[in-house]
Amino acid sequence: MQFARRMGQLGTETAFEVLARARALEAQGRDVVHLEIGEPDFDTPAHIVEAACEALRNGYTHYTPAAGIPELREAIASDATKRRGIEFSPEDVVVTPGGKPIMFYSILALVDEGDEVIYPNPGFPIYESMIQFAGGRPVPIQIEEARDFSLDVEKLCDSINERTRMVILNSPHNPTGGSLSRADLEALAATLEKFPGVTVLADEIYSRMLYEGEHVSLASLPGMRERTIVLDGFSKIYAMTGWRLGYGLFPRELVAPVTRLMINSNSCTASATQIAGVAALTGSQEPSERMVAEFRRRREVIVNGLNQIEGITCTMPRGAFYAFPNITGTGFTSRELADLLLTEGGVATLAGTAFGSFGEGYLRLSYANSIEAIEKALARIAETLEKARSTAGSGAPA
Ligand SMILES: Cc1ncc(COP(=O)(O)O)c(C=O)c1O
Repeated sequence: MQFARRMGQLGTETAFEVLARARALEAQGRDVVHLEIGEPDFDTPAHIVEAACEALRNGYTHYTPAAGIPELREAIASDATKRRGIEFSPEDVVVTPGGKPIMFYSILALVDEGDEVIYPNPGFPIYESMIQFAGGRPVPIQIEEARDFSLDVEKLCDSINERTRMVILNSPHNPTGGSLSRADLEALAATLEKFPGVTVLADEIYSRMLYEGEHVSLASLPGMRERTIVLDGFSKIYAMTGWRLGYGLFPRELVAPVTRLMINSNSCTASATQIAGVAALTGSQEPSERMVAEFRRRREVIVNGLNQIEGITCTMPRGAFYAFPNITGTGFTSRELADLLLTEGGVATLAGTAFGSFGEGYLRLSYANSIEAIEKALARIAETLEKARSTAGSGAPA
């Protein structure tokens, strides 16, 4: 079969491949601690599940308007207004099956062949994949440990030029847990004033999982609302990854083209899932708050534990639920160590390079797992490295 040329440009998300390898080992009877996949280990809160069951019984089994049911668009706009301190209206919202389609649609709608798109590296792998798929030119900005994994906004601003069509931000950041400050965003906003053709895609899916400082949305800064697409969703904060429910808050002129992309690809988001979304936003936030408090506790356990392992150092992530330890002291590459930990240690992690070339020298460990599992993983990592050192003789392995 001859595939279309564009398929050669399409990347992937390694987390799903590692999960499949880990499951295959489990099928052979091996015990694996899962720190690879980016999803809360919590169940969706019961009142949300109940709302969806009731919706199905009440006939929410049909197509809905492509951009989402009015009740959900309203609930999203009112939640976004409250949380981001600027006015959003239901007409600004497009509801999609998960947050990912917002990347896909925004890039397809705005990026032409050869247009430059600036994005974080290491970063969520789908950004680069989608930029290339659309024929755009990816312009990575390295997210550096030396800067506490906060984006170098000066470097970012220096990279913007007449060919730049889009800037992608992600705060709190997957995979490093870094975040953007108000001062960073103000500096970016000042530069963007000189480049009216640039739209920003602000991926804020972890905005309610910030352990230090305040979350600031670029959209809330003067003049930025009409230049910024805010991506958010239910997968992480309401532990709803399998439901597939996300949304974008768009500059008004983008709403119709993005809705048309929805009509062409999905028709609409599942109707009972949308009712579940209304229940999530309008019901008790206590389960989400409890989950984030638990992630905060686990963050301390995993980072402190990693720092006690020879060859590994780890900075304290400010948000999301990932640790991004520096493993250069082990003598292994990211890929080698991730493979060794999975096959020998029974710990599934992701190589930093799964998030782009600047991820070399790091691993990503999701701490969306119990303290007990995290402690078991830490002990296995230490033991696997110890064993590798002793078989390689003295000093670090080659
Ligand atoms: C930074 C970032 N953005 C967006 C998403 C997509 O989330 P969803 O599962 O809602 O499509 C993820 C999921 O891992 C993510 O890490």
